[in-house]
Amino acid sequence: MIQATLHQLIVFEATARHSSFTRAAEELLITQPTVSTQIKQLTRAIGVPLFEQIGKRLYLTDAGRYLLTTCQEILGQLENFDMRVADLKGTKEGKLRLVSVTTAQYFIPKILGRFCQNYPGVDISLEVTNHEQLLKRLKNNDDDLYILSYPPDDLTIYSQRFLENPLMVIAKKDHPLANHQNIPIQRLEEEPFIMREVGSGTRRAVEHLFKQQGMTVPVRLEIGNNEAIKQAIAGGLGISVLSWHVFNQKRFHEEFTILDVQHFPIERYWYVAYPKTKQLSVIAQTFLDYLLNEVKTFPNFDPNLLISA
Ligand code: PGA
Repeated sequence: MIQATLHQLIVFEATARHSSFTRAAEELLITQPTVSTQIKQLTRAIGVPLFEQIGKRLYLTDAGRYLLTTCQEILGQLENFDMRVADLKGTKEGKLRLVSVTTAQYFIPKILGRFCQNYPGVDISLEVTNHEQLLKRLKNNDDDLYILSYPPDDLTIYSQRFLENPLMVIAKKDHPLANHQNIPIQRLEEEPFIMREVGSGTRRAVEHLFKQQGMTVPVRLEIGNNEAIKQAIAGGLGISVLSWHVFNQKRFHEEFTILDVQHFPIERYWYVAYPKTKQLSVIAQTFLDYLLNEVKTFPNFDPNLLISA
């Protein structure tokens, strides 16, 4: 192993992450034969196979998996070293890899925008995906910080709550139930319901509440996108349950109304999470502090803000 070069480890890490020689070559801007040669030399230095090819797919062997974890630690430490040196020089430079669930895309980019202005040397990637996909990335330790509503029930994950995320029943402005009060939740079974896709955290919260009430959700339409759900509600296709973050407070009343249904809003929160064993990079820690500070200025959930705006 001592004979392995840093370049070989970088090539191996990219190949293992993509499960592909070709995509690793594309990412590293080298040729595919160079990737193969580097992997061959590394395999020889280690003395056991790192990949096995089954059909067209490339799989890591047990040794390959151990090496991938080791490489991620080494490369992460080197990256963090660069960040510390930049920090010593009085600048913040480096990479920040964030993942957020789709519903958080309504406020995370705004916070990131201000963060970028304060720290122009930080190179940011933000992956927006649904709850289930985010958990996969968290499990693989692919990124620095993870923004989600349901932190996994797992002692190896650190999570910190930072903002309310209430889920409300939303209908078209002129819906017949618009001015009714304390509507029994069972009444929703008679309404065409628009639901997020399987894997969505919002969907999971709705299904959980309905199940607690001994009900099933009368899904009429499944849409994997909050914006498209808003359009479908406005177009009269049905009602849905969405986070209040999804709405622009000022224009809400032009198209929508909140139905006053028992057991709603569903009380939820945003969390920032990462594996407990992960040592946050200088930049990730700086962003985390910045995020926790910024959200202090956010208004608390108040349905009147939407109704009377
Ligand atoms: P989602 O997650 O965008 O996957 O629905 C949002 C949430 O968990 O609140």
